[in-house]
Amino acid sequence: MSIRPQKPAPATPAPGKLPLTELTEMKRRHQPIVMVTAYDAPGGRLADQAGADLVLVGDSAAMTVLGHESTVPATMEEMLILTRAVTRGASRPLVIADMPFGSFQVSDEDAMRNAIRFVKEAGADAVKLEGAGVMLSRVRSIVAAGIPVMGHIGLTPQSATMLGGFKAQGRSAEKALALLADARALEAAGCFSLVLEAVPAPVARRISQELSIPTIGIGAGGDCDGQVLVWHDLLGLYEGRTARFVKRYADIGETIRGALETFAADVRERRFPEAEHTYSMPDEELALFERAALGTEALDRRE
Ligand code: KIV
Repeated sequence: MSIRPQKPAPATPAPGKLPLTELTEMKRRHQPIVMVTAYDAPGGRLADQAGADLVLVGDSAAMTVLGHESTVPATMEEMLILTRAVTRGASRPLVIADMPFGSFQVSDEDAMRNAIRFVKEAGADAVKLEGAGVMLSRVRSIVAAGIPVMGHIGLTPQSATMLGGFKAQGRSAEKALALLADARALEAAGCFSLVLEAVPAPVARRISQELSIPTIGIGAGGDCDGQVLVWHDLLGLYEGRTARFVKRYADIGETIRGALETFAADVRERRFPEAEHTYSMPDEELALFERAALGTEALDRRE
């Protein structure tokens, strides 16, 4: 008899789910970890089918799917809806919910309460939060509640104004050392993994070597233990300016635009719908309907 429940309770790994502990094993084996963002059920399903190990429901959703200028406006309610959709689509990858700005900054209790909501209400396997310093105690509190936490340092978009804009971090020896200290402190606080964003490659390499937990890089060079890209950047769905670390693997935006233009032309030229897209009805029923509709004959179904 299987001891694993078929419908697992929150925080209980579902059958087939990548075990969290496997990530450290992958680091040990030098097997790169693949993470991608997703914001809906088809995205979760496609990421799973493509073999992603981690799916991040990033607060980048504020920009990519909600049309904001930054990640700051994302709310808990919006992130819960998106996370719930992704967990319905993704089975094997660990789904990580990004804690939006304001959901963890105020207090440890707030951070814990909101992390629990992601697990209980949206089925997330883990949460991610930006920063170190005072955020270390948020990490400890969430981990104490039994929820795995991914850290995020370097360019942390929620505090981009404080960092002087969207630019690379840790480019002086002093700042690089501060990043290393933050990374060590986040590992000690209980993070299972760490995102390094827009950090010089040699600094990211040193941090990755010093930590036993895996680092996931974005704009941090090829020596991180894994890599992440944002769905819309990777697929060519985002029209705004993208960072230099973005690699576009497809131009799905162009494909979608072309398909929509063809649909619009077909509708306007009455080429769509065709017979195969429509439903028929028996001739005698149609004749009855037409006569009744024109008022020439009442529809009498009594035998
Ligand atoms: O919100 C997001 O998509 C992220 C990734 C860039 C790591 O935090």
